[in-house]
Amino acid sequence: MEDFRIQSVLLTGSDRGIGLGLVQEFVKLPHPPQLLFATCRHPESLEGQVLKEMAARCSNGSRLVVLQLDVTDPHSIEAAAEEVEKYLAGRGLNLLINNAGIACETTLASETAQSMAAVYATNTIGPLQVCQAFLPLLKRAARRSNCLGMSCSKAAVINMSSSYGSISAVDEWEWHQDVGYRCSKAALNMLTRCQSLGYGPCGILCVSLHPGGVKTCLGAEKGVLTVDSSARGILEVLSRLSAKDNGTFLDWRGQTVPW
Ligand SMILES: NC(=O)c1ccc[n+]([C@@H]2O[C@H](COP(=O)([O-])OP(=O)(O)OC[C@H]3O[C@@H](n4cnc5c(N)ncnc54)[C@H](OP(=O)(O)O)[C@@H]3O)[C@@H](O)[C@H]2O)c1
Repeated sequence: MEDFRIQSVLLTGSDRGIGLGLVQEFVKLPHPPQLLFATCRHPESLEGQVLKEMAARCSNGSRLVVLQLDVTDPHSIEAAAEEVEKYLAGRGLNLLINNAGIACETTLASETAQSMAAVYATNTIGPLQVCQAFLPLLKRAARRSNCLGMSCSKAAVINMSSSYGSISAVDEWEWHQDVGYRCSKAALNMLTRCQSLGYGPCGILCVSLHPGGVKTCLGAEKGVLTVDSSARGILEVLSRLSAKDNGTFLDWRGQTVPW
């Protein structure tokens, strides 16, 4: 991790769970990002205040900026992109992590159009629209970078997926059907593949990542990993990503997850 340097990172859903864990790990890096944009739906909430207190304590050449961003609200996404562009002052955004997500405990029998649409709006359409809004900044980062090949230090989009979205594995089906959630993550994986084909030629690396079964509100009793160990593993993986990983589905240990 000594060599892992990224100038700018933006995360969605960073006020708790894995998102917050990632913010904490980025700040602890030997070379933390110069600009770390920790976005969340409600910066004025108790969780948002924790982020702001972290921002106030930040030093070591790193600046933590807390911004409002609801991934289901196009106006909020656009406003955040405008704000980020001001902070970047002509530089690009190196790494976008589409982490925000929701789950709904449903079965084939209980799934409704309403719950499926809500999960899809956050987990699938959200990452699409966030990436569209930040694309000019990601492209600028790729153009301006001196790095050869592809990497998170140059320009990358990480979509936080789930092994529940694996069509061939259908992880833990016996215990949790979670139909809408699974469909939203399978569709997110296809989005990653499309983004890798569309944005790869511009030098932007696109990867789907499964964080493991993590003890968070969303992971609840399914989780075995702590937020810290998942977040640390994810950063290790991010530090090693290269062109060969574009359009792949990996887990927090860097192992391939079957589509
Ligand atoms: N935990 C696991 O075992 C596990 C396993 C596989 C994949 N994942 C994936 O990992 C990601 C993070 O999950 P987690 O376990 O950390 O869940 P979590 O603790 O429930 O946190 C979810 C985060 O997403 C945010 N969020 C939800 N809807 C949003 C919206 N419309 N706009 C912006 N932010 C929104 C939440 O913000 P609020 O505070 O405003 O609600 C919260 O910060 C998700 O994509 C999830 O699917 C988790």
